[in-house]
Amino acid sequence: MNADVYILIIDGEAAVLNSFADVFSKEGYQVLKAGSWQEALPQIKAQKFNVVIADVCLPDISCREMAETIREENRYAFVITTAGFSDIELARESIQYGAHDYLSKPFDPVDIVVSMRKIVEKQRLQSDSKQLFDTIKVLALALDARDHYTHGHSEQVTEYALMIAGEMMLAKEELDKIRDAGILHDIGKIGIPDAILLKPGRLTEEEYNEIKKHPEIGKKILEPVDCLADKIPLIYHHHERFDGKGYPCGLRGEEIPLGARILTVADAYQAMTSDRPYRKALPVYIAVEELIIGKDKQFDARIVDVFLRVLKRKGVDCARR
Ligand SMILES: [Fe+2]
Repeated sequence: MNADVYILIIDGEAAVLNSFADVFSKEGYQVLKAGSWQEALPQIKAQKFNVVIADVCLPDISCREMAETIREENRYAFVITTAGFSDIELARESIQYGAHDYLSKPFDPVDIVVSMRKIVEKQRLQSDSKQLFDTIKVLALALDARDHYTHGHSEQVTEYALMIAGEMMLAKEELDKIRDAGILHDIGKIGIPDAILLKPGRLTEEEYNEIKKHPEIGKKILEPVDCLADKIPLIYHHHERFDGKGYPCGLRGEEIPLGARILTVADAYQAMTSDRPYRKALPVYIAVEELIIGKDKQFDARIVDVFLRVLKRKGVDCARR
């Protein structure tokens, strides 16, 4: 069961290498050993490891460079540094360079085995979640691709939303949330009849009310997926309006999650600047004017300003003709 789990141990002491190797081999893991950084580096480059356990005081490399190189070459590896009592501060420091945890020598083999089982279990769950997300993403993109009018819509909305979020210098976690929610924001349209979704003319009030159900449907589709829990509020609220007149909940102002307010601006701009069954794409200057008119009504004015600043810097011609 653990035969697909690769662990690399880097330590100058043969006794340490051998005791780790004994413990982990008994658990069925694939264990590789390196007595120095020179010996370890080619292995790190050649093999994707689940876990790398490295002595923090190797003679030929700094703790920082070691931790950073391992993370660079083995992005998904869980990195544990080890150190004797006198160097434990250095091991603690390694966390800020990208190590996940540290161990002080000497080790208790039972503790190590228990920790390793937890790490491997967590990695398996993360990998399952990623696969599930990739499948849902394919579905969302396929939904866009069904109709040439919306082909690429979600990807472009995501691109605009990330431009805004980047300009606002939001944290990486928020960017990740926006990236995933951007791709999935309209997935609920899967539950709207084609006759309405692809209708070439204007929608009746009844049909529009059907379309308005898509954030709720999207939420219900995605709710069972644990790894999407923090993205769902962005998807569910991407049609709220800053003045409280949007749907599904009529949230107003900062009650609406920031990521959802960003998606609203990106979504509106993308929709206005692309062809629709009932109209041609609007010129950029009109879309920009609509964003400005919509400040504090449909949109968060601060986000509109940020977006217009990014468009200008990217050389997008917003001038009226
Ligand atoms: Fe939508």
